[in-house]
Amino acid sequence: MNIDFKELANTYGTPLYVYDFDAMAKSYNALKEAFSGQKSLIAYAVKANSNLSVIEHFASMGAGADCVSIGEVKRAMSAGVEPYRIIFSGVGKRDDEIQEALNRDILMINLESDAEMKRVEMIASKMNKEARISIRVNPDVDPKTHPYISTGLHENKFGVDIDTAKRMYIYAKNSKHLDPVGIHFHIGSQLTDIEPIKEASVIVADLVRSLSAIDIDIKFFDIGGGIGIKYEDEVTIDPQDYANAIKNAIKGLDVTIVCEPGRYLTANAGYLLTKVLYEKVNGNKRFVIIDAAMNDLIRPSLYKAYHKIELLDKKEDSDTSKADLVGPICESGDFLAKDIELPATEHGDLIVVYSAGAYGFTMASNYNTRGKVAEVACEGGECRLIRDRESFEDQIRLEKAYLKNARS
Ligand code: LLP
Repeated sequence: MNIDFKELANTYGTPLYVYDFDAMAKSYNALKEAFSGQKSLIAYAVKANSNLSVIEHFASMGAGADCVSIGEVKRAMSAGVEPYRIIFSGVGKRDDEIQEALNRDILMINLESDAEMKRVEMIASKMNKEARISIRVNPDVDPKTHPYISTGLHENKFGVDIDTAKRMYIYAKNSKHLDPVGIHFHIGSQLTDIEPIKEASVIVADLVRSLSAIDIDIKFFDIGGGIGIKYEDEVTIDPQDYANAIKNAIKGLDVTIVCEPGRYLTANAGYLLTKVLYEKVNGNKRFVIIDAAMNDLIRPSLYKAYHKIELLDKKEDSDTSKADLVGPICESGDFLAKDIELPATEHGDLIVVYSAGAYGFTMASNYNTRGKVAEVACEGGECRLIRDRESFEDQIRLEKAYLKNARS
């Protein structure tokens, strides 16, 4: 939909996250459609954008949730995701998290090590339960993405190798308290090349076939997330090619495909609105100082990630020059863009930061005692607030009672 960013900035203030719920639905439907003819579950990777209304939006279309903490599991359930559509992943889970996941009877707990399997078995046995599990296999293929978001190589901390996985499945099959129902792999995020996914799914499907030969029947073939999106000029993966690659790899297997997209569903449906505070020049370096900062959107600082920037109040024929777009935080790494061409700006000019719907708000912090910003959803021509702007009082709530001398 056409979103009136100016009106939203006037109504709700800046910085502000704005999400296009219609665009999210479109991406969800494209992916679901691509898997048609095959049993499939789209388990939205809640870490990408965990606002309750965002999760509720996907849940209303039938999505499940991929969660990496019990907090995310609780969020998903609070937003209406059915427990039998929830997967709990992650390299390290506390005992209380495992216990709570078992209590909530979610679809499966995804195991990332032998030690974790023994822990889950012990807890399930104490609770007199059988834990449905999947095992994350590390297929050792190079996903060709940023090293910080690459996960499918043995040098990464994720999953177990094929031989360990086989031994774990045999152990689980013989355990009264473990029910091995799934297999999982996730080789990285922001993948733009389909070949590594093809390669990994063939390797993992072969493992499923060899497990089936020893009477271990895998029901859920979980291919993780990772579909890349266009931030700048990337040519990325077509959902239909993606689905076809997986369908080909699992030919002859009676499994439900589970896929865990995060970024693909939300990134390009999200915008960060920010206003210019002022400009300055140091030597011959020009800085445009804005009211959003690295605590609101850390991707440029952390990954040198590119986000398209648009100055809405651009004077048509004005000259441009190179500038860094920087926030008010006391760090040189606090920037949203570097060396971009911008016309002269004035106090109050509105800037839109694109592709901010994934790993934007969820990676925000309170650094420099900056409150988390408000979030707005636009759907069917209407926009509404989905998270209040955090106040100073909200921020100090958990500390205030411990002051030696209370102050007003
Ligand atoms: N499943 C698993 C097991 C994952 O680890 C991830 C992401 C996903 C699914 C969802 O991946 P997606 O479809 O969003 O690519 N903060 C980084 C991205 C970290 C991704 C972590 N795992 C960024 O801002 O680029």
